[in-house]
Amino acid sequence: MDTGAADNLRRRTRSSRARRGAATGARAVLRAVSVGNTEDTDHDMEGAVGLCKLRVTAPRYSLLREVGRGAYGVVYEAVARRSGARVAVKKLRCDAPEKVELALQEFWALASLEKRHENVVQLEECVLQRNRVAQRMSHGNKRSKQYLRLVETSLKGERVLGPPEEPCYLWFVMEFCEGGDLNQFILSRRPDPNTNNSFMLQLTSAVAFLHENNIVHRDLKPDNILISERSGSPILKVADFGLSKVCAGFGNASEGKVGEEKNTNINKFWLSSACGSDFYMAPEVWEGHYTAKADIFALGIIIWAMLERITFIDAESKRELLGTYVRHGADIVPVGEALLDNPKMVLNIPQKRRSCMSDGVRKLLHDMLAFNPQDRPDAIQLRARMDQVMCAA
Ligand SMILES: Nc1ncnc2c1ncn2[C@@H]1O[C@H](COP(=O)(O)OP(=O)(O)OP(=O)(O)O)[C@@H](O)[C@H]1O
Ligand SMILES: [Mg+2]
Repeated sequence: MDTGAADNLRRRTRSSRARRGAATGARAVLRAVSVGNTEDTDHDMEGAVGLCKLRVTAPRYSLLREVGRGAYGVVYEAVARRSGARVAVKKLRCDAPEKVELALQEFWALASLEKRHENVVQLEECVLQRNRVAQRMSHGNKRSKQYLRLVETSLKGERVLGPPEEPCYLWFVMEFCEGGDLNQFILSRRPDPNTNNSFMLQLTSAVAFLHENNIVHRDLKPDNILISERSGSPILKVADFGLSKVCAGFGNASEGKVGEEKNTNINKFWLSSACGSDFYMAPEVWEGHYTAKADIFALGIIIWAMLERITFIDAESKRELLGTYVRHGADIVPVGEALLDNPKMVLNIPQKRRSCMSDGVRKLLHDMLAFNPQDRPDAIQLRARMDQVMCAA
């Protein structure tokens, strides 16, 4: 562990997320709200309150406790009343354009996935709620005035959601990951090469699946990788799609420009919103012109930190987090930022003298963390190379 330089940490957060809001009284909310027993409906939920009231009589989930709180959302452990299954419920208050944008991005990404992947958190359903009326969201529900208002709010960047005293919420019902996040899991156990190998394969498989489905995650970091231990061995789940981008149907285009082609080459789809968490951000993300290869860089940082247990203390949360960095005197600098200053810099992989990192993994990490995104493997190549490296080990 190397945390000595934490206080001198040079942070330039270029996250699109706003600062954490004031904490709300979670317990009071738990009792008051249950997600209603709603079905997809063709009716305008606002104009058909009587009808909807009938539909929201039987709550489907009981909220048990708060398990996490992010920049915009609160996450609860809950139980589905009918099946008794444990689920996670993330509640996002949609009262400002930037919050609506995050909520919709998360919804669009998770709802666009037609197949399940073991290493991507599963969305069971998404419910839009206002006052006591709840409506199950389906992808592009154009008949719902409330959904269209959300989209308009996000696109225009101004509030078109009705009176502030009647806030609207999006509830994401997901599979519950009881094993905490990757930081907690790795740092609370002794190093285990088998677990490391399995996690490398799981992570590359998840990112390949997302990219095959035209989703760039844009905020891959150990906090957003959750663990499920239901099956006995730990299964990683990539979560938190609030910053993700669905690049489908735009061809080899740029963010916001609609082209003709249907088959997207996600590695040629240019994105421009500089977002993410600085320690995991690729050099080109710092400059605001990047593609899906930014996810490959973030994954390189995560895997390198996991294998060598390289950590820093997050200045805001004071938590110890897995992440690699470069030392500049007494400062520690995110690798992507340091590479931007000096593209020829050779990364010191492995960093620790007594490392048992194989040559194959070392070479793969160097490639994943290449300054030039074109020198990095894409997610499909990465999955194939990771399989080879693991077989050779
Ligand atoms: N499916 C889940 N199962 C168990 N816990 C979860 C689940 N989803 C989220 N959490 C917990 O809630 C926390 C916040 O969730 P998430 O990262 O999705 O929200 P966020 O508001 O986008 O957070 P941030 O902005 O801090 O990244 C997670 O770090 C985790 O502790
Ligand atoms: Mg998160």
